[in-house]
Amino acid sequence: MPGAEQPAPKEEPETLMILAIETSCDESAVAILRQTATAPAEILCSLVSSQIELHRSYGGVVPEVASRNHSLILRSLVEQALDEAGLQSNNIDAFVATRGPGLSSSLLVGHTMAKALAAASGGNFLSVNHMEGHLLSPFLSNSRTSWKSPGLMIPAHLALIVSGGHTMLIHARQAGDYHMVGRTVDDAAGEAFDKVARMLGLPYPGGPEIEKQARKGNPEAFQFPRSMPGELNFSFSGLKTAVRYTLPKIDDLTTRAPDICASFQRAVTDVLVSKSLRAAHECGCNIITLSGGVSCNKAIRSALNDKCMAEGLHFLACPPGLSTDNAAMIAFAALLKIRNGATGSMSEDIDPNFSLC
Ligand code: KG4
Ligand code: ZN
Repeated sequence: MPGAEQPAPKEEPETLMILAIETSCDESAVAILRQTATAPAEILCSLVSSQIELHRSYGGVVPEVASRNHSLILRSLVEQALDEAGLQSNNIDAFVATRGPGLSSSLLVGHTMAKALAAASGGNFLSVNHMEGHLLSPFLSNSRTSWKSPGLMIPAHLALIVSGGHTMLIHARQAGDYHMVGRTVDDAAGEAFDKVARMLGLPYPGGPEIEKQARKGNPEAFQFPRSMPGELNFSFSGLKTAVRYTLPKIDDLTTRAPDICASFQRAVTDVLVSKSLRAAHECGCNIITLSGGVSCNKAIRSALNDKCMAEGLHFLACPPGLSTDNAAMIAFAALLKIRNGATGSMSEDIDPNFSLC
């Protein structure tokens, strides 16, 4: 199908119906979003089928297992989404998929499915950046656009995106206009959570497990490093190594695990909060947003919220249901692109290293 023509661009309909597919890693997700004129976008349904149980015994995501399971489940997820929304595929104006970054074999499954649906039902095909989905997700609530602004205008803000594969500080001047001001030079924050959890014998994914343990522990018990102070890039590998060297010195790991987790989580939180505030000041932003899987973490959310309040900044976090990978955020990113004139093309290909800016 690559190279095939899209249907002649239709006049942009007043009501846009978008079906999005997200398969960049280990969640198969389908969502349908409706938006009329300048009204808020409405999530008609958002389905996520997680493969976490399948990957747990390997301690991480196995690409071959991921892509195989996306292709097994995707058709029924699309049918279920259309059913729940009371729609048929020819009611959809645009079929959207994640172009990257992500696992190539997994991206390909969602991309190909969205193209096939577009070709079969006469809708347009468009692909979007997974990280742009995360970045824009704080402006969505679990059912509709949450940001109270005219139309679909996204205000200038400083975005902190923390996921399993990425840790980024982005100055977003408006939707589609992004400037990277900081990123990790080694591990992502979520990756550090997962690796420390593994060292402690906790199951994958490690973030929620560490958070659970940390609630019972003392965050001052161990002094773990806060790397790269004074700049906006992040490094989490030194922190991970510090935990690794500390563990053999502890006699009773079962009783001290909560202290390790609380001290590790505090170190990650301090770094994320201080760099976000610094970046917002440097970029002249009075809004900070938080998104990505790690934004589920209540300690990180509330620390960033408190610091923003203390400094007179607005804080907008992604709703927990939309923090980890989902297709509603992909549909929303596509909606903003389409309302800004994008039409997409059947010749768009996946890009496992697709960069946001
Ligand atoms: O955004 P996401 O679903 O997938 C990627 O695009 O990477 O993020 C997954 C990451 C995993 O590393 C997971 O451990 C982390 O988010 N995570 C958390 C929490 N829930 C998920 N990290 C810390 N605390 C949590 N509660
Ligand atoms: Zn993600």
